[in-house]
Amino acid sequence: MVMHTQHQYDVLVIGSGAAGLTLALRLPAHTRIAVLAKGPVQEGSTFYAQGGISAVMDSRDSIESHIEDTMRAGAGLCDPEAVRFTVERGPEAVQWLIELGVPFTRKDKRSRDFHLTREGGHRHRRIIHAADATGKAVETSLIGEARRRDNIDLFEQHIAVDLITDERLGGRQHRCLGAYVLDRGKGRVEVFRARFVTLATGGASKVYLYTSNPDTSTGDGIAMAWRAGCRVANMEFNQFHPTCLYHPQAKSFLVTEAVRGEGGKLLLPDGKPFMQRFDSRAELAPRDIVARAIDHEMKRLGIDHVLLDISHKPAAFIREHFPTVYQRCLELGIDITREPIPVVPAAHYTCGGVRTDLHGRSDVEGLYVIGEAACTGLHGANRMASNSLLECLVFATSAAGDISARLEQVAMPPELPEWDESQVTDSDEEVVVSHNWEELRRFMWDYVGIVRTDKRLQRARRRVELLELEIQEYYGNFRVTNDLLELRNLVQVAELIIRSAQMRKESRGLHYTLDYPEPDDSRPPSDTVLVPQRNEDGSQHVAVDKVEQLSVVDLKPS
Ligand code: FAD
Ligand code: SIN
Repeated sequence: MVMHTQHQYDVLVIGSGAAGLTLALRLPAHTRIAVLAKGPVQEGSTFYAQGGISAVMDSRDSIESHIEDTMRAGAGLCDPEAVRFTVERGPEAVQWLIELGVPFTRKDKRSRDFHLTREGGHRHRRIIHAADATGKAVETSLIGEARRRDNIDLFEQHIAVDLITDERLGGRQHRCLGAYVLDRGKGRVEVFRARFVTLATGGASKVYLYTSNPDTSTGDGIAMAWRAGCRVANMEFNQFHPTCLYHPQAKSFLVTEAVRGEGGKLLLPDGKPFMQRFDSRAELAPRDIVARAIDHEMKRLGIDHVLLDISHKPAAFIREHFPTVYQRCLELGIDITREPIPVVPAAHYTCGGVRTDLHGRSDVEGLYVIGEAACTGLHGANRMASNSLLECLVFATSAAGDISARLEQVAMPPELPEWDESQVTDSDEEVVVSHNWEELRRFMWDYVGIVRTDKRLQRARRRVELLELEIQEYYGNFRVTNDLLELRNLVQVAELIIRSAQMRKESRGLHYTLDYPEPDDSRPPSDTVLVPQRNEDGSQHVAVDKVEQLSVVDLKPS
């Protein structure tokens, strides 16, 4: 076996979005940090975020009001402690970005005050934004700052394969020691060892055929943490954004909810509004309600999209507030200052994820999970708009504080075993990967989408178990590639989603099933938690086994 030098860092951060980079920048300057990105450093959901970041920035708004709105959107499943923790830290998190130089939109050119927009579920204007390209502004500033820091090494085109835990090596400490990482340029799997490891790998919306997300959202961190022995919670709550652009040439383009926040109306093809029939908050109802209403109308009328119209607003206002949406639509021949935009719902956000505490700690010692990959309790059964970037910033900061307090007490792991490729060859059937990828995303869309039934879930479960066997065999025999790793993770996460959905015998928030169309209020609301079980020989965690209904959430505000 060829021996390679092992990378050695105080902290290994897997993911370079808002969560990963904030953590890296919030750690003390003497900490040696590696940040991995599986593609280009900026590629991830953060870069594409449009609407903004929610935080209480106006004297007429209040922390209590932001907490209440978040809890209401979360349909009874938010953890009040996590909500308060996040919302209270919002203004400081945004201030940190302002100091970093993020060019947030001001009220007007001469004003020192920031323009705050509105989105679904929020009773106040509390979304700070950089026009309609907030994520690009945030990500660019974070990358710029990270590149200036001597203590941070950025590794692009490096995809983590699996975490290395001492259990995996036969130990009993349940501690994370590092990760196996495929350097895509060299086609070689290398060892990164570290005192602490953080997963900041984003969500899993690529498990669905239609999504607003970039290609990075394949649930890698959730799957890796699961395989390493972490609990995973609330995976049935997949958020579908109501308004993605419907156009044959537009792949994954979002039309920000702020368009509705600034007065945009949802219309049927005959020009009639319909949201008022579904919720008194109409266009500004939380996303689960709006997406389901659109889905209902599309199925009822047999149409393939609805319309979103902001053309009643002055053209200059539209161009100033929504330059990205305006430009993209114009490229496709739609002038949004004059005509409505064709839109459909698409998979947008993974509310569930790896169970963590308020410091981002997971069940495995030394392993933190932050950002969209985590399930902190903030979102409950439905995330409120613009609470995600906020969560990334707040929990990255909290995790950084916790890691720095423990850094000196934890020794660097010893040299770890190299990746073993002695039993594998190059694949001779790449078509298996692309075919399975396509099949998975299609049946997840058809059977585990906006509207579910027991029968559809059963069907999906049978198919996913078959795919799992096939991919496991493939993984065992062939050299790993980026596509194979992502598919392996997507299938794993799909299974977690289906199992969680099967456990929930009610409709709540983003999980809607025709077999149980109402929330079950006869029992206290609870999270669905999947608990990994050990193999019989105790050597590793198997992907499936027992599921456990979890703790009751206390809904009283703290
Ligand atoms: P990401 O930003 O997705 O970054 C993931 C990182 O992990 C990437 O660097 C990727 O390369 C890396 N990675 C993944 N797997 C691996 C692996 N195996 N090995 C190495 N690296 C890996 N939220 C809001 O609050 N406000 C908004 O306005 C908003 N608008 C949105 C608009 C769009 C179009 C989308 C898609 C999402 C939007 N969201 C918004 C949601 C929000 O952007 C995301 O939830 C958030 O950015 C996630 O950040 P993250 O750091 O957790 O992950
Ligand atoms: C949007 O701009 O509509 C996305 C906001 C979000 O996902 O929070």
